[in-house]
Parts: sequence; C-alpha cells; structure tokens
Amino acid sequence: MSQIRNVAILGSTGSIGRAALDVLSHLGEHFHVAGISCHQQIELLETQIESFLPRFAFATGPIDDSIAAWQNQSVSGVPQRTIRQHGMDALVSFVQSDEVDIVVAAIVGIAGLESSLAAANAGKRLALANKESLVVSGSLMMEAARANGSEILPVDSEHSAIFQCLQAGRGKSDIHKIILTASGGPLRDWPVDKLSSATIEEALSHPTWQMGRKITVDSATMMNKALEVIEAKWLFDLDPEQIAVVVHPQSIIHSMVEFKDGSVIGQLSPPDMRLPIQYALTFPNRIPSPSPKIDWSQSMHLDWKPADQERYPALQLGFEVAKKAGTCGAVLNAANEAAVDLFLNKKIKLTEIATICRQVLDHHHYSPAPSLSDLQKMDQWGRSEVQRWINAKC
Ligand SMILES: NC(=O)c1ccc[n+]([C@@H]2O[C@H](COP(=O)([O-])OP(=O)(O)OC[C@H]3O[C@@H](n4cnc5c(N)ncnc54)[C@H](OP(=O)(O)O)[C@@H]3O)[C@@H](O)[C@H]2O)c1
Repeated sequence: MSQIRNVAILGSTGSIGRAALDVLSHLGEHFHVAGISCHQQIELLETQIESFLPRFAFATGPIDDSIAAWQNQSVSGVPQRTIRQHGMDALVSFVQSDEVDIVVAAIVGIAGLESSLAAANAGKRLALANKESLVVSGSLMMEAARANGSEILPVDSEHSAIFQCLQAGRGKSDIHKIILTASGGPLRDWPVDKLSSATIEEALSHPTWQMGRKITVDSATMMNKALEVIEAKWLFDLDPEQIAVVVHPQSIIHSMVEFKDGSVIGQLSPPDMRLPIQYALTFPNRIPSPSPKIDWSQSMHLDWKPADQERYPALQLGFEVAKKAGTCGAVLNAANEAAVDLFLNKKIKLTEIATICRQVLDHHHYSPAPSLSDLQKMDQWGRSEVQRWINAKC
C-alpha cells in the first residue's frame, strides 16, 4: 500500500465507529481519518477530534444553541483546525468530495441510507456496516455501485466472512449455498412461551457481541438475521433459496460458503468487529490486526443447528422479503425500527415486534420496482402504520 487513503467514518461515536477508529489507530500512515460524524454525542466526538485530528467533523442531530456554538469553535493548541459542520446535507457533500476515498458507513438505521447511497454514487469504496441501506434499497444501491465503480465491502461479520470465503471460488456460478451463522442472541435458550416477558435489560445482554441497542434487540428477535438474509441476497446476487441460517452459539465461524462440488469454506476468528472492519479497509491486503486470535493450544467445541423459523417469526419475514423485494424491504425495515423503539420505550413486548412487522408488511401496497422517493414514502407509511397499530391497541 503506497498511497494514503482518506477515510470517512460516518457514525464514529457508535459501536462500529469506535471500533473503526481503533483499527485506524493501528493501521499507520497509509490511512488517514479525513472526517467523522455523530448524531448527538458531541462530547465524545470532541475527544475523537482531539485524538485523530480529522479535517472535518459533523453532527447531524437537532440544531440548537450549543450546536451553533460547537460549529464555531476550534481546538486550542491543536495545529490543524477541524472544520465542524452540522446536518446530513453537509455530511453527504463531504462523502461525495475529493477529501474522501473510503467511507465507513456505521450510522444506525435508515438514517444511514442517504450517505451510503451518496458514497456508492460517488464511486467510493464503501465499507458497509449499515445493513439497513441494502435492506431498504438493495437494488438501487447495487446499481449505483455498478454504474459508478464503487466497491461495496461488507463490514457485517457474516457478510465479510462470505466475501472472504468467495475469494476461494471463481464467482457466483461456483456457489451452491451460503450459510449465515447466528449467535441466537441473548435469549436463545429461553423457552418460547417465556420470550414475551423479556425485559429491555435481558434483551440487551448479548452473550458474544457488544453492539448498539437497536442491533442487539434485532439479535434477540432474530430480525438481525432476517435483515442479513436480505443484505446477502443483494450483496452476492443470490436467490433466497441459496441462503441457509444456522445457530452457532460460539460465534467463531462467522459464515460459510458451500461450493457446487460440496466443499464448504468458512471464516473463523474470535468475535471482534475490528477484523471485518480492517479487511474492508485494506482489501485485498491482509495485515496484522488488533483483534484477538484463536488460541490453538486450547480445546474448543463448535456447534450449530438449523435456525427454527417457528421460534423466530422474524426470520421467516426476512426470507419472504428477500424473495419479493420491491418495496418490502423498506416496509419491513421501517416497521422494525419503529417497533424496536416502542419496545425500548416499554410500550410493547419483545415478541410483538415481529407481529407488528408481519401486519404492516401484509397490508402495504407492494410495488416491484420502486424509485428512491417511493421507498422513502414507504418508510414513512410503515412508521405511521406502527403508530396506528399501537394507538388501536391502547
Ligand atoms: N455493532 C456491531 O457490532 C454491528 C455489527 C454488524 C453491523 N452493524 C451495523 O452497523 C450500524 C451501526 O451499528 P452500531 O451498533 O455501531 O450502532 P450504535 O452504537 O447505536 O451507533 C450508531 C451511530 O449512528 C449515529 N446516529 C444515530 N442516529 C443517527 C441519525 N438519525 N443520523 C445520523 N447518525 C445517527 C450515532 O450517533 P450518536 O452516538 O451521536 O447518537 C452513532 O454514531 C447498524 O446498521 C448495525 O446494524 C453493527
């Protein structure tokens, strides 16, 4: 790697964003943090500015007096002044500018869609953690990347694993199946009839991964795996029938590819997001990483079993949406984001998330080839339907 690569980390204050900064602090002089963004955690963003001296920093949350004052400040004693800007429009312009070579898309939810699409349209390398972008608008994202020479490199550990395994084949025609592994989430050993009583704390105590709140709840309902099925369909251009999901509690095998000849190749490593993040930054090069390695002097058991779609109704939705595509991804994502918010605000039970998503999905006006604006309208409609559902319930 000879030339310096300028990296933008969108959502640098989140779980993936912080891990990405840690990776960059180890990568050395060939990578430079060009810009970072938060939504509301300005104080944390400031500490990141002090450590990484990016040329740009963005806050996208609601504007108030403190944000206005923040935009005007400089860091005393720091030789390179960071330009601070507010709003998604400013962030999107930055993503498209010559200041950036690689975009780490680590904003959570549909809020990350505009900037992910902007990166694809501007032909940047897109290290994509924000799976919701592909779930909502997979067809448009992949087309934008193809048309503009943007490489979309997955950060999701499962998709990074598949991407790595695929380096052993000669392309899509060699694939028989991909096998996505799922930890099963924090409630994987609970009896089904107890799941409805899960508290927020119980749903958030993930056994193997430390992640943001939304994805941790998605993991407890298996909606995360549903979104990943849809993500995999778009990323690797697969039929949903070519995607299997197994529960693998150790989270060591991050996913596998079964090739046509019956060979199965998997990617293994201890659960740590810094490895897939680094691979998306350095691909095709492999260089030492800060993530832990498997200790081969210790015994280890690796188990898996098929994911039970009866136990996890959200997973069924994922396969259905992957098959039907069109507006379905936008509706499922909107309903899920709204329902997860309701759960985190103690308005519904955990098990009602999938029930609500099913209802909203079944009642939407399906369109097979929506535009971006159609998808945005569907997103709004899906959220309002969830509100209608909860109002009717009260
Ligand atoms: N965490 C993981 O291990 C993991 C693994 C695979 C994939 N992913 C995916 O990576 C993405 C990020 O997940 P995470 O766990 O890192 O989430 P997180 O910890 O909740 O962080 C979310 C980031 O997005 C910012 N943000 C929140 N709302 C925003 C909005 N409306 N507009 C702009 N920025 C906003 C947050 O800023 P503030 O901090 O200022 O609120 C924060 O920087 C998700 O799509 C998730 O599915 C995560």
